[in-house]
Amino acid sequence: MAVNVKGLTDNARKTAISELNARLVDGLALSMAIKQAHWNVKGINFIAVHELLDTVNANLQGHLDTMAERVQVLDGVAEGTAEIVAKSSTLKPYPTNLTKSADHIREICARMREHGANLRAAIDATDEAGDANTADLFTAASRTADKDLWFLESHLE
Ligand SMILES: [Fe+2]
Repeated sequence: MAVNVKGLTDNARKTAISELNARLVDGLALSMAIKQAHWNVKGINFIAVHELLDTVNANLQGHLDTMAERVQVLDGVAEGTAEIVAKSSTLKPYPTNLTKSADHIREICARMREHGANLRAAIDATDEAGDANTADLFTAASRTADKDLWFLESHLE
């Protein structure tokens, strides 16, 4: 048991590690999908969408790093290898035949929405288990995901 997590029950710690690793794996798959879109998108609004996708990815990566490091604080093992992501991600495979920005944005938004819903469930699960700090970490990630979904979805109006 880690000495730096005194006051947390074993159930709170284990729930948090499991929720953090689950969101990390899906987040890494989402991050790769966003880069795939960033690289392959074409169209009249190319530069705006190309750059926005990189901003969204950078925001996401920041939260994923915090999640993985929180696993260490809780004395767990962060599980973020390509093999684990390929095996355990719940995201739908990202299509490799898209070019139009509306198609890429639609596909990314669908996965961002899924990611947001899973983060909200993770807030509740870790809060109920008694780890308010991990719930707070998920709350911050969720707020960023909501805002970036709005930025992306606004292109589809
Ligand atoms: Fe780039």
